[in-house]
Amino acid sequence: MKLKNKVALITGGTSGIGLETAKLFRAEGASVIVLGSNAERLAAAGKEIGGDVLLLSADLRKPADIERAIEAARASFGRIDVVFANAGAGKVAPLEAVTPELIDEHFSLNFTGLFLTVQKAVPFMQNGGSVVVTTSFLDTVGMPGLSLLAATKAAVRSLVRTLGAELAPRGIRVNAVSPGAITTPFYGKLGLTDEQLAATAAAIQARVPLQRFGESIEIARSALFLASDDSSYTTGVELVVDGGLTQF
Ligand SMILES: NC(=O)c1ccc[n+]([C@@H]2O[C@H](COP(=O)([O-])OP(=O)(O)OC[C@H]3O[C@@H](n4cnc5c(N)ncnc54)[C@H](OP(=O)(O)O)[C@@H]3O)[C@@H](O)[C@H]2O)c1
Repeated sequence: MKLKNKVALITGGTSGIGLETAKLFRAEGASVIVLGSNAERLAAAGKEIGGDVLLLSADLRKPADIERAIEAARASFGRIDVVFANAGAGKVAPLEAVTPELIDEHFSLNFTGLFLTVQKAVPFMQNGGSVVVTTSFLDTVGMPGLSLLAATKAAVRSLVRTLGAELAPRGIRVNAVSPGAITTPFYGKLGLTDEQLAATAAAIQARVPLQRFGESIEIARSALFLASDDSSYTTGVELVVDGGLTQF
């Protein structure tokens, strides 16, 4: 029970990595708060996680939704011990197809939404608290068509260092987990045809030294390490979980 009596707030907990992490945190004793933008997916996630879970509807592109959700979390539990700021999305767009609207769409969720989630939650965190964010192998590797997704993740990687420095005096640690290619619904939302998706997946897999996609549980276990006291002397880092993709 690595998170016994802890309150953990998870964004993007309705699908993929976030959902698997919510289940693991719950199994490790945490009270779990899940934020999601879609009522049906939230309810389904609640059933899958089971037990002690607070489901909060919030579109993280809307600052007022974030504020309302964090206030509801505070009203229910009084404090937050762990924030897993994990929600994210991306669309494939080569340079000539990028519009100001698409830039806003990426940054408002992947950067601003994450930033405001952490900003609003931190006042309710105590000494020993842990902030974990999800970055990506794309903050290290350049892949055509993914400039916006990659840039938002690089910005979040930077944030981990600055907020880590700001929050260290309060005993709150800030770290990132950086997934490689993980089997989740994420890829189906990139705006690719089935054919393009299959080709992209094959091209990525060919670059992975461990020769396979990772599973959400493999990221969830790393998020658990960073969330729990097992990593009590670790702050400001990005824990890379990518089958060697960015290392060899
Ligand atoms: N899968 C990979 O290979 C991979 C690789 C590197 C990094 N990552 C990162 O891992 C994180 C999780 O991705 P995943 O693979 O688990 O993808 P996923 O299955 O598509 O999950 C994305 C989550 O983000 C939430 N979300 C999307 N838009 C939202 C919004 N406007 N407001 C609130 N929540 C929103 C979704 O919830 P609702 O739609 O229900 O609101 C969902 O729970 C992302 O940050 C992603 O960039 C993934």
